[in-house]
Amino acid sequence: RRHLLDLESLSADEIQILLDTAQKLKELTGGCRNKLSLLAGKTLANLFFENSTRTRNSFSLAAKRLGADTVEFSSGGSSVAKGETFVDTAKTIEAMGVDWVCTRHVTPGTPHLLARELRCCVINAGDGPHEHPTQGLLDMLTIRQHRGRLDGLTVALVGDISHSRTARSNIWGLSKLGAHVIICGPPTLVSPRWQELGFEVAHNLDAILHRCDVLNLLRIQFERQKARPFPSVHEYAALYAMNGARMRRAKDDILIMAPGPINRGVEITPEVADGPHSVILEQVTNGIAVRMAALWLLSGAKDASNTTTQAEPI
Ligand code: CP
Repeated sequence: RRHLLDLESLSADEIQILLDTAQKLKELTGGCRNKLSLLAGKTLANLFFENSTRTRNSFSLAAKRLGADTVEFSSGGSSVAKGETFVDTAKTIEAMGVDWVCTRHVTPGTPHLLARELRCCVINAGDGPHEHPTQGLLDMLTIRQHRGRLDGLTVALVGDISHSRTARSNIWGLSKLGAHVIICGPPTLVSPRWQELGFEVAHNLDAILHRCDVLNLLRIQFERQKARPFPSVHEYAALYAMNGARMRRAKDDILIMAPGPINRGVEITPEVADGPHSVILEQVTNGIAVRMAALWLLSGAKDASNTTTQAEPI
């Protein structure tokens, strides 16, 4: 493949290769901290039209850890303000000699558009509420590191499913690798389409909590809700926030995840976010690992099997 646009269109084998390669590169770079020269001479362009802390910086670090250069584009302060289009902007950056364009945009399908218009590799770093494939991969890698597998685990995605690209990438990725996915949230924030597609949908977190091996707590995306949100923040927190009382009713070894950023006190209370079951910051580190794997595999490598011999510390 030349592009990483979504997890819906990837096979289970392709996802497995991405996760195996990420694990291997994480180990070879001493936990994503050391540099290798696998991608020396190549350039990644980050083309972000929406805000980001985790994704943008970890793509940048992933490229640098493997010896590549980076170009950082933000729409704010760019010639977009003079009327330059999205595609013209991307072609302009590509003409500077880049090998991968990593793009985030509010509109679903924009990475797919660039994949048709550009010659270089295109990576989706989040297209509106559609998909966020590297987030799905880093979530799966984190679960696999703790449990050794995904197959047979029950993973609940809880919260604002309708506006969540992370939810979609998790749903496709986890289900392809054999996890049982529960899609949980208020009826106003969960499309009935998921049930029609055969997924388990739950509106009552307390009724499913005892069955869950993993909870992935999705942020209420206030910025994408046009009307006055329902439920309100207080109603949502009462029904769905993972707090100390709910933790006492969960499995002893439950993993608490969140893609971030988190609304403290809304989806998750500080005692849970910062508690012993939380792997939120491990997810961030694994973001570098899966993004190194994406860059490496899109540059033509088949898998991680020959990385040991090619890896030269810089
Ligand atoms: N999880 C995630 O995509 O975070 P950022 O918006 O900070 O990149």
